[in-house]
Amino acid sequence: MKLCLPILLFSVSVYADSYSPLSYVDRPCGTDLSNLWLDVIAVVDNSRGMTVAGLNEVAANIASVFGSGTRIGLNASEPRTTRLGLVTYNSVATQKADLNQYQSIGDVFHGIFDALSNIVDTNESYLATGLELAERMLIDQSVNSTRAHYQKVVIVYASEYDGNGELDPLPIAERLKLSGVKIITVAYGNAYGLTKSFSNIASPGFAFSNSDNQGKLIGQIQGSLLQANCFCPSDWIQYRTSYSDPAAYRYGVCILPVTTPQVWRAAKMSCSHRWNNSNLATEFNQPKHDFILSAVRNTQGFSPPYQYHIGLNYASGSWVWTQPSGRQQVPLRQPLMWLSDYPQLASDKSVVMNQQNGHETGWINIASMNVVANSVCETYSCDTDNYCDAQYFKNQ
Ligand SMILES: *[C@@H]1O[C@H](CO)[C@@H](O)[C@H](O)[C@H]1NC(C)=O
Ligand SMILES: *[C@@H]1O[C@H](CO)[C@@H](O)[C@H](O)[C@H]1NC(C)=O
Ligand SMILES: *[C@@H]1O[C@H](CO)[C@@H](O)[C@H](O)[C@H]1NC(C)=O
Ligand SMILES: *[C@@H]1O[C@H](CO)[C@@H](O)[C@H](O)[C@H]1NC(C)=O
Repeated sequence: MKLCLPILLFSVSVYADSYSPLSYVDRPCGTDLSNLWLDVIAVVDNSRGMTVAGLNEVAANIASVFGSGTRIGLNASEPRTTRLGLVTYNSVATQKADLNQYQSIGDVFHGIFDALSNIVDTNESYLATGLELAERMLIDQSVNSTRAHYQKVVIVYASEYDGNGELDPLPIAERLKLSGVKIITVAYGNAYGLTKSFSNIASPGFAFSNSDNQGKLIGQIQGSLLQANCFCPSDWIQYRTSYSDPAAYRYGVCILPVTTPQVWRAAKMSCSHRWNNSNLATEFNQPKHDFILSAVRNTQGFSPPYQYHIGLNYASGSWVWTQPSGRQQVPLRQPLMWLSDYPQLASDKSVVMNQQNGHETGWINIASMNVVANSVCETYSCDTDNYCDAQYFKNQ
C-alpha cells in the first residue's frame, strides 16, 4: 500500500493572521493545518466488511490527514495542538488509544498502523457501539478537562450501516451533534451505496466516501477539520453566506446583537471591550447587511421598527468603519446602504445606525451622543489563526 505524503500535496502556511479588513472582504476562517487545535476520535470499523487492505488504507489516511504538520498531543508552551484517540468496532467497540496516548505524529504513525493491522472475524458492524464509546471518551477525557473549550470531532470509517433499535447509530449521532461534536464519515467498500444513510450521521457537508483518489479524500477531511476548528463563543453567531442555511460557507467572523440600549459612542466602547478584536459590526456588502438584519430579527429584545448601531462613522473628513484600537480605520466603499435622503449634511450627525423604514432597513446618520438604540458587535472567530483560551468562554 502506498502512503501518500500530504506534505507534497498541501503547502503549510506559517502562523499569524494575515487578514486585513482594508481588503474590504470579511475575514475567512484560518486554514493552517499546523495550528489545528481539536480533540479528535477516529472510530474505525474492523469487521470483515472492511478487509485488511481497507484497514491499512484507513491507517494511511489518518496518518496523512494529520501528517501536514499538525501538532499531536500536549505542549505546555503551545495550546494549538490536536489530540487523537482511536476506537475500533465490530459487534463491540474497543478503545485502542485514549486521547493522551499519542504525543507526536510519530506515535500516530506507529500506533495507528499497529492497531489497524487485523480485522475481526465477524460480519457484525455496529457503528452505534463505536459512537457510544467515542462519546464516553470525549466526556471523560475532554469535556472534563482543561481542554473543555476545544472543539470535538469524531471521524467514522465504516463498511456497513447496521443496527436497529438499541443498535441504531442515528440517535447517538444526533446526541453528539447536539452537544456540539462534529462528525465526519468516510464510507468504505460495501458502504459506498449507503452515502445517504451516512450523510444523516455526518455533520452537514462532512459525509465522504473512499474513492480511488486518496489525495482528494485527505483534502476533504482536512477541510472539514479546519471548518470544525472555526467557531464562535456561545451567544455569538457565526457569519455565513446564508442565515437560513446552517451548512452555508462560514466566515471567520462572529456577530453579536446587543440588547442594551445606549448611545453610539457607548456602544462602540462596549463592543471593543468584549474581547480581543471585537468592535461594532461592519457591513462591507449587502449579504453581510442582510445577515445582520436576520440575526437581529431573530434576537429577543429587538422589535420593529429595527434600530441598531453599526461601526460606520465620519472621521477626519470621510466615512470610515471603526476598527479595534490600534488598527487602521477602513474607508467606506460601495455598495452604500443609506436610506434615501441620507447621509444628511450636518456636522454633528457623524455616526451611523441601521433604521427600519417600512420594508427597507438601511443606514442613517445620527449624533453620537443623542440616539439611544441597540447595537451589533463583531469579533474574529476562534480558529487556527486565532486561539481563544478557556477564559474567553467563561467571560461570555
Ligand atoms: C512545543 O511548542 C514549542 C513552540 O511551538 C516548540 O518549540 C516545541 O518544540 C514544542 N515541543 C514539543 C515537545 O513538541
Ligand atoms: C459473513 O458473510 C459472508 C458473505 O456474506 C458469509 O459467507 C459468511 O458465512 C458470514 N460469516 C459469518 C461469521 O456470519
Ligand atoms: C471530572 O474529573 C474530576 C477529576 O478527575 C473527577 O473527580 C470528576 O468526577 C469528573 N467529573 C465527571 C463528570 O466526570
Ligand atoms: C487575546 O490576545 C492576547 C494577545 O494575542 C492573547 O495572549 C490572549 O490569550 C487572547 N485572549 C483570549 C481570550 O483569547
